[in-house]
Amino acid sequence: MEMADIGLIGLAVMGENLVMNMESKGFTVAVYNRTGDKVKHFVEGRAKGKKIIGTYTMEELVKHLKKPRRVMMMVKAGAPVDALIEQLLEHLEPGDIIIDGGNSHFPDTMRRCAYVERHGLLYAGVGVSGGEEGALNGPSMMPGGSPAAWLHIREILQAICAKVDDGSPCCDWVGENGAGHFVKMVHNGIEYGDMQLICEAYQLMRDGLGMQAPEMSEVFAHWNETELDSYLIEITRDILAYEDGDGTPIVDKILDTAGQKGTGKWTAIAALDEGIPLTLIGESVFARSLSARKEERLTAAKTFQRQVTPITENKEQLIECIRQALYASKIISYAQGYALMRSAAETYGWNLNYGGIALMWRGGCIIRSAFLGKIKEAFDRDAGLQNLLLDPYFCEEIKKLIPAWRTVVATAVSCGIPCPAFAAALSYFDGYTSERLPANLLQAQRDYFGAHTYERLDAPRGQFFHTNWTGHGGDTSATTYSV
Ligand code: 6PG
Repeated sequence: MEMADIGLIGLAVMGENLVMNMESKGFTVAVYNRTGDKVKHFVEGRAKGKKIIGTYTMEELVKHLKKPRRVMMMVKAGAPVDALIEQLLEHLEPGDIIIDGGNSHFPDTMRRCAYVERHGLLYAGVGVSGGEEGALNGPSMMPGGSPAAWLHIREILQAICAKVDDGSPCCDWVGENGAGHFVKMVHNGIEYGDMQLICEAYQLMRDGLGMQAPEMSEVFAHWNETELDSYLIEITRDILAYEDGDGTPIVDKILDTAGQKGTGKWTAIAALDEGIPLTLIGESVFARSLSARKEERLTAAKTFQRQVTPITENKEQLIECIRQALYASKIISYAQGYALMRSAAETYGWNLNYGGIALMWRGGCIIRSAFLGKIKEAFDRDAGLQNLLLDPYFCEEIKKLIPAWRTVVATAVSCGIPCPAFAAALSYFDGYTSERLPANLLQAQRDYFGAHTYERLDAPRGQFFHTNWTGHGGDTSATTYSV
């Protein structure tokens, strides 16, 4: 019987393309799908004449796998993954490896990893990014799970993943249990942020400067030759240049309501849990939610009859300011995303390699960009870097960008064009670099109404005081716990 190097379950577009990619790198792949028709269609179509074995039951799939067996699931995140694991456990044996290549939520992966390990098998939760094309030609892959699983899956994953210019693979071991899926989740959150920043730049040009799509396409083409060089800027250039059948830009006909599958929301929730200000990604998730309330917006627009004031500043100069504001905000977004990963690594006991993560994101994935090379260099300089803003390179970059960044946020506010991500980034920067914030007053308020106590500038840290603000309160203070 012909034996396969790996089995893959789930022949949707990502699954099929990963199989084709694996086969093209010399691996024999056995495939299985819940509906047999898909298997038949695949093996008689795209997979014909290739080292791809179609199987129609779980038992048959498992029988075709070399030991220890490697099975990769490419199915919808959530209950289908748990159901498949149950079925696989019936057929696999200790030492075999179950791989989840979907967008699973990291707490699920942590739970599944422990569960599968209790059965004596190994588990890997692998974040896969790059869309259908990436899956076929080289995705970015972020594997985590049972450390012993890495030995068995490394060869295949590093063969099929994207490579950067020097040939380094955009796939390396991330860490235990849910670490791979956590890093993929943060990748997606950053993806939301990058996309929102681009959309805000677009709206400023469209509504403030009255520019048309083809002209904006040229602007993005130029930006792609600067520090902003990235996949998302590149596709924006192409999208804006794309004409519908009637020769007009298709983008102008697309309904302005954003969808989302939840990974950005998970990132924001993780940040709230960790107490890490991930403001830009948070705003990006909310901006999608606001856009989705189209009917409500139409009513509000009618009620307020608000007009955007056209921008009167020099057009070329303002476009350059927008570019710089986008770049500055992007630095903030990555600084916040990396701060989240640092905090979670401590919470969950992961030993994350931040430079390595930048390298994994450097190619193949949706957020791939030249900029990630700079982040890699920052962590090479200082592996324990607390915040990207404190790296000498990024510090100097931000300093140069501040005037343009402020101009753009001020212009947007005065013209009535929303710019939640640009503004959140700038406020974070101003807050993070402030020696004194107004939290002294906030602490006084907390103490006033709830005797929550405060620390003093003229007393050592850790010493807590309570004031009887009204003369009616007692001396009893609340406990000083903090989340
Ligand atoms: C990737 C993407 C991908 C994501 C989609 C949809 O890295 O290839 O992040 O994993 O699922 O882009 O995301 P939303 O529907 O939430 O926009």
